Amino acid sequence: MGDNKKDQKLFSYDKAKTFSSNSQFSFYWITSKVIFLILAIIFSIQFVFNPLSSISSSSSSPRSLMKIAVSPVGSGSGSSQNPEETELKHVVFGIAASAKLWKHRREYVKLWWKPNGEMNGVVWLDEHIDQNDNVSSTLPPIKISSDTSRFKYKYKNGHRSAIRITRIVSETVRLLNGTEAEQNVRWIVMGDDDTVFFPENLIRVLRKYDHNQFYYIGSSSESHVQNLKFSYGMAYGGGGFAISYPLAKALEKMQDRCIQRYSELYGSDDRIHACMSELGVPLTKESGFHQIDLFGKLLGLLSAHPLAPLVSIHHLDLVDPVFPNMNRVNAMKRFMVAAKLDSASLTQQSICYDTTNRWTVSVSWGYTVQIIRGVLSAKEMSIPMRTFIDWYKRTDDKNYAFNTRPISKNACQSPRAYYLSNALPDLALHRIASEYVRASNVWDPECDWDMSDPWEIKQVIVYKKPDPDRWNKNKAPRRDCCRVLPTRRNGTMEIDVGACKDGEIIEYSVK
Ligand SMILES: *[C@@H]1O[C@H](CO)[C@@H](O)[C@H](O)[C@H]1NC(C)=O
Ligand SMILES: *[C@@H]1O[C@H](CO)[C@@H](O)[C@H](O)[C@H]1NC(C)=O
Ligand SMILES: *[C@@H]1O[C@H](CO)[C@@H](O)[C@H](O)[C@H]1NC(C)=O
Repeated sequence: MGDNKKDQKLFSYDKAKTFSSNSQFSFYWITSKVIFLILAIIFSIQFVFNPLSSISSSSSSPRSLMKIAVSPVGSGSGSSQNPEETELKHVVFGIAASAKLWKHRREYVKLWWKPNGEMNGVVWLDEHIDQNDNVSSTLPPIKISSDTSRFKYKYKNGHRSAIRITRIVSETVRLLNGTEAEQNVRWIVMGDDDTVFFPENLIRVLRKYDHNQFYYIGSSSESHVQNLKFSYGMAYGGGGFAISYPLAKALEKMQDRCIQRYSELYGSDDRIHACMSELGVPLTKESGFHQIDLFGKLLGLLSAHPLAPLVSIHHLDLVDPVFPNMNRVNAMKRFMVAAKLDSASLTQQSICYDTTNRWTVSVSWGYTVQIIRGVLSAKEMSIPMRTFIDWYKRTDDKNYAFNTRPISKNACQSPRAYYLSNALPDLALHRIASEYVRASNVWDPECDWDMSDPWEIKQVIVYKKPDPDRWNKNKAPRRDCCRVLPTRRNGTMEIDVGACKDGEIIEYSVK
């Protein structure tokens, strides 16, 4: 029955319940774990014939519950058997937070933190908080950063807290020094209190690198101007970065001397970068870390994510909720429902065509499906649409550190976006069914083209096998292919997503 426990953790009924009750589009209003469990079993049988629709039969067989081939990183089968592979237990997180905002920001940390020793790390605060706020088994332990008044800070209108925060890496090394826990440590990972990590994907990234060597891994800003001002070679702190433990130890030895030489710098992350420069260690860029120096909707960015695992999203208080018509925390909770089922594929894009209607379809798995009238190329569809504005609140394309494209001004070509409403394992077929529904408040059906309107489609269901090994070292990155399935019910589009078959490419063709 050990497996049973594992499955429960995997499906996380608690999370799903919260999600369901917050969701205006959810299929079921589930009030107890037990009901959900029964539904899941029934669902697995019904599903094939009657996808995601109401459930009438009560026949059930618990056997299929064990079968789904989702294995989270760090447990289960295949490549993770290798004892040398990096797991979550090899990572120590240092989360930069402040006492003032902690009560609010900890809701973000709760979304990704795995308690009970599954993850290691510390939240570093500037001052003590009310003891009543310091009793949560669902959060990392809290520590108070040591005094930094002896360090110079000369940046005009900046925040001295930059010194406290930059020293978290060194303070973490000192905390670990000589402990039994230190034996396991391979990486120190820094993040902010308004950063959400996708831990399995972080591990997938770290596994590519030898932790015995000096590595400094993260990503730059989305803002070209920010990168000019700071550096393209700097790992932005909010997006998070990873420092191999030997490098963290080398940094600890010199960081306090180093930061005295850079008292004119602004932040904590540019101080790390300055010290990395003195150590001669360059940034290893991984495009799944997201600083999010943007405002507005992340739709464009996350629906054309680079072919890399989604590791982090930062600045959650500044951008719109990832799903419309929900608060930020609940929207992230919904995102986590998909992350739990196939974290490796989260937001991975696939592009295909509905030849009956001459529509272009773009799937960002676990997040959105977009349907656009007409045939747009894969080249165009893989460029993020500017649903956001830049850090300096400009709307043109001159200030991004990546290619973007405008939202079409033609109402006929403005994409119809469907957002994830739920995702469930289809146990019998070893696949995941995710449902996406249109966001009615942003729907603008005005268009005089003589062609069918995606408005007819009220929901989209995507079938996909989980693919936990897609980022393995020995696999070249490749986009999935999607296929629009024949219509079985008016108003519902069904799509199959999976590895491209031999000879299958993303082209419009009527067979
Ligand atoms: C929180 O509680 C722990 C254990 O009771 C204690 O070690 C720590 O100093 C407390 N932290 C704060 C910020 O009060
Ligand atoms: C680690 O502990 C040893 C023994 O107490 C001490 O000599 C050394 O300076 C410590 N190193 C760090 C980085 O704190
Ligand atoms: C779907 O819509 C078409 C055209 O409106 C109609 O002829 C057909 O009967 C509908 N099918 C179902 C299953 O409702």
